[in-house]
Amino acid sequence: MANLTINGQKIDVDVEADTPLLWVIRENVGLTGTKYGCGIAQCGACTVHIDGVATRSCSVVVGDAVGKQITTIEGLADKAKLHKVQQAWIDHDVPQCGYCQSGMIMAVAALLKEKPKPTDKDIDEAITNICRCGTFQQAREAIHAAANA
Ligand code: FES
Ligand code: FES
Repeated sequence: MANLTINGQKIDVDVEADTPLLWVIRENVGLTGTKYGCGIAQCGACTVHIDGVATRSCSVVVGDAVGKQITTIEGLADKAKLHKVQQAWIDHDVPQCGYCQSGMIMAVAALLKEKPKPTDKDIDEAITNICRCGTFQQAREAIHAAANA
């Protein structure tokens, strides 16, 4: 049994402590915005925030997330108001198939908290998410727009 706090809600899940957090978020809690891509911390599709830090949830065991604040894409908006990264993503038509996008948005939201005006170099270093649709240029424009919003 693990007691988690996800998007501000306390949730008890009946799982082994070494279950990957991504599995728990999707299968036990039913929040399917967080995606499975590679399972080995390479693609970033599974990115969530743990205590505000962008984290690849496929490679964190649920036992290590107990007592921490977990935020998924479903919890990023402030009630009805989209997060500025989500809004910039819409304004700049970033998504193509969409599969990688929630992970990328979560990574960008964490970057902007740490570096409100990131340079292209900061973006290249921090946003290593893989997008098979090649949305990187639109994403870069949207990141700068969100930084200036
Ligand atoms: S599924 Fe976690 S990094 Fe790819
Ligand atoms: S939008 Fe399709 S993989 Fe990124």
